[in-house]
Amino acid sequence: MANQNIQVEVSPVRKNKPNSNELVFGTEFTDHMFMMDYNAEQGWYDARIVPYQDLKISPASMVFHYGQSVFEGLKAFRTEDGRVQLFRPDRNVKRLNLSNNRLVIPPIDEDLALEALKRLVEIDKEWVPHLEGTSLYIRPFVISTEPFLGVAPSQHYKFIIIMSPVGSYYKEGIKPVKIAVENEFVRAVKGGTGEAKTGGNYASSLKAQEIVEKEGYSQVLWLDGIERKYIEEVGSMNVFFKINGEVVTPMLSGSILSGVTRDSVIHLLKHWNIPASERKISIEELYQAHQEGALEEAFGTGTAAVISPIGELYWEGKHIYINDGKTGELSKRVYDTITGIQYGRVEDEFKWTVNVEKEKVK
Ligand SMILES: Cc1ncc(COP(=O)(O)O)c(C=O)c1O
Repeated sequence: MANQNIQVEVSPVRKNKPNSNELVFGTEFTDHMFMMDYNAEQGWYDARIVPYQDLKISPASMVFHYGQSVFEGLKAFRTEDGRVQLFRPDRNVKRLNLSNNRLVIPPIDEDLALEALKRLVEIDKEWVPHLEGTSLYIRPFVISTEPFLGVAPSQHYKFIIIMSPVGSYYKEGIKPVKIAVENEFVRAVKGGTGEAKTGGNYASSLKAQEIVEKEGYSQVLWLDGIERKYIEEVGSMNVFFKINGEVVTPMLSGSILSGVTRDSVIHLLKHWNIPASERKISIEELYQAHQEGALEEAFGTGTAAVISPIGELYWEGKHIYINDGKTGELSKRVYDTITGIQYGRVEDEFKWTVNVEKEKVK
């Protein structure tokens, strides 16, 4: 990889690290962050790793008014033999540029972004927790910072990476979740920004989420925004169903996120010769399959949980119980394989992991 020019300012203070048993998602941040600026004259410039700090930006910064922002989410894992590795970071960097493109944000050099990820994790690698199931969550993001009121692409941006140690998603073992199918609100439509990872998509999902949470469901299953008929995705996860031995996941239609975990699951299923298809699937078809006893498993996929089995779907007054509310065999196999690769317990035959270089001995 090209030797990228990233300046490093080492933090004079080292914060106390939280106890690995008590990590709360997204609340504590490491000692350093990566930053890079953009303006129309210079392009992206001044790539640097600096002590973690607050930002000083104008209240007129365009991001506050017109929402031109994108983000990513990935993790660094500590393996049993003490290495630190990233899982498919190239996919996140590519997706960041797809989101950038949709939001008219200038593209970022992908080699530089990968190098920034590796260098930052290496500098703060003591923050990668040791306990089983824990990891270091990495949040790259871009915001528009030009101080200007007017709807137009900003001429100034910041690309920033921050990191936060996270606890095990399943402290008491994998537990299936209850999901409500959303009939009133929609998340995105084809031609909109659904396939970009941009803040506005999440802001517009909050209302539906708030309502179903009060009813005891953990997340919403979105239907397509036009016919309200076809299944799209779940909150912050893609979704898979095993029907009569075949695994089905909604095709990438332009309104759902192309998940890295989704892609990894499809890859594994094909590798295992399990029939898998990416196609349209209606909620009616799913209900019929359930009525006929053909709906064997359902699970969500995403960086946070890897696999989240679905034990119950609620749709227009009907409760669809799946696999007696238990984790299915396939869900477990996929979960064990992907987490096995991430933590270095299972051979990485697809070359999905990227080692973060060991710090040089001083
Ligand atoms: C809307 C949405 N769908 C799906 C996913 C899953 O994507 P990934 O597997 O890349 O984490 C996420 C999480 O990033 C998401 O926010």
